[in-house]
Amino acid sequence: MVSWHGFGLPLLVAVTAFLAGLVLGSAELPLNSCSAEGQSVSCFEGTDARNNALLLLTSSGLGAYGADSRTLVPNGNLTKAFRDLVLQLPDSSWETDGAKRKENARNRDVSMLAESGFYEPELFSGLQIVIVEDGCFVKDSFWNKENPDFHSGTNYQISGMTTSIELVRPFLGRGLDVGWCANYSQSKAGYFVALGFEAHRIRHVSLWDRLAGDSLKTQVFELLTTSRARGSMTADLEAETGSSEATAVVDLLRSADILHVNGGHPDFTQFVFKQFAREFLLPVVQRVKEGSVVYTGQSAGSMMGGADVGLSLQAPIFRDMVKRGDTTGLSLAGRCAVRPHDEGSAGSLWDLASAVYGKLKGLMVVRLPNAEALMCARGQCSVVGATGKPAASVISGQEPNLERLAEVFSVMGQPGASDAGPT
Ligand SMILES: *[C@@H]1O[C@H](CO)[C@@H](O)[C@H](O)[C@H]1NC(C)=O
Ligand SMILES: *[C@@H]1O[C@H](CO)[C@@H](O)[C@H](O)[C@H]1NC(C)=O
Repeated sequence: MVSWHGFGLPLLVAVTAFLAGLVLGSAELPLNSCSAEGQSVSCFEGTDARNNALLLLTSSGLGAYGADSRTLVPNGNLTKAFRDLVLQLPDSSWETDGAKRKENARNRDVSMLAESGFYEPELFSGLQIVIVEDGCFVKDSFWNKENPDFHSGTNYQISGMTTSIELVRPFLGRGLDVGWCANYSQSKAGYFVALGFEAHRIRHVSLWDRLAGDSLKTQVFELLTTSRARGSMTADLEAETGSSEATAVVDLLRSADILHVNGGHPDFTQFVFKQFAREFLLPVVQRVKEGSVVYTGQSAGSMMGGADVGLSLQAPIFRDMVKRGDTTGLSLAGRCAVRPHDEGSAGSLWDLASAVYGKLKGLMVVRLPNAEALMCARGQCSVVGATGKPAASVISGQEPNLERLAEVFSVMGQPGASDAGPT
């Protein structure tokens, strides 16, 4: 029996090739034919996975990058959405006066707050933010001072990595993941300090950095920089509990009132979250589901919060290392999966390929342009941001054309198998 990971990528290639023919031959592509556009997204409909999570799954953080693609231009709607979620945290999240702080905040004039960039230390101070940087760990710009993007965002120094630079040095400039990750400690507009969070309460962690041994780390860097067979890495790699380092990581995660999962490599993030450090994350994920920790994500971190990370363009290098080739995310938003940085280009083959992928897996794919986010609060989800709309349709599963295509490819990819659905 062929499992999902066995044919996921070839399937998308096949879909894309097939659709290339369609685009040339037909003007009736089911690209924008869906009707569910707009604010509300019924992520939990038809699932028994309803939870109380407070989620903001952003494409590009609390704003969008400007023309230089470096400077974040904050967006008031996203910032307000974040604030609304914080206001739903339990009183006990604050060290002191939680109830009073929330009440005072509710009485503040939001338009005046908006004018001051939502700077509100009365509300935000005292809350602890933990930024998870695992997706950034495999980026060249995170480690390599010669990389022009070393100073564009976060790096191993800003985020206090414990891994020795000497371990990473042989791999620099040799094909680690491209791009860079935002520096969530910076005090510029659009980041937490500018809202009134205290810098010392913003903590960065990579679970891989803290919990993997040097030889494993080396093997992962080798995997990324050479075409060497990956057989050497075992499939059920799990971080060990019990060490003092493990306890420190558990304590750090337990301290979070806001868990922010940064961008980066979605597939590596998924390997760390769902396989390597799964046990370590279970308690905080449980608290997110109860609504006592706000989960925010950027890009890969948002995909991770959703139902599936298989919609990424990055090569699924780590998929074989996750049990059963699992591509699921934390599924905090029911059957909604997030696809960040979606340009909404009507003719994009990748868009349709990912729509078919979503359909096959029973997902709702929320296509988020930059400056938009999927917000969920206790089971109610909507798109918030500059337009409050997804890039194109939310895939509702009601499009006959998509239905038909999905059928074709499910038969192609999985002869006779019936376990291709969501798990
Ligand atoms: C990142 O944040 C730190 C504060 O921890 C700051 O000193 C540094 O300049 C920031 N880097 C960038 C590129 O904004
Ligand atoms: C906020 O959302 C509203 C409604 O979607 C929109 O009209 C407005 O332009 C948005 N504001 C910003 C700053 O994006």
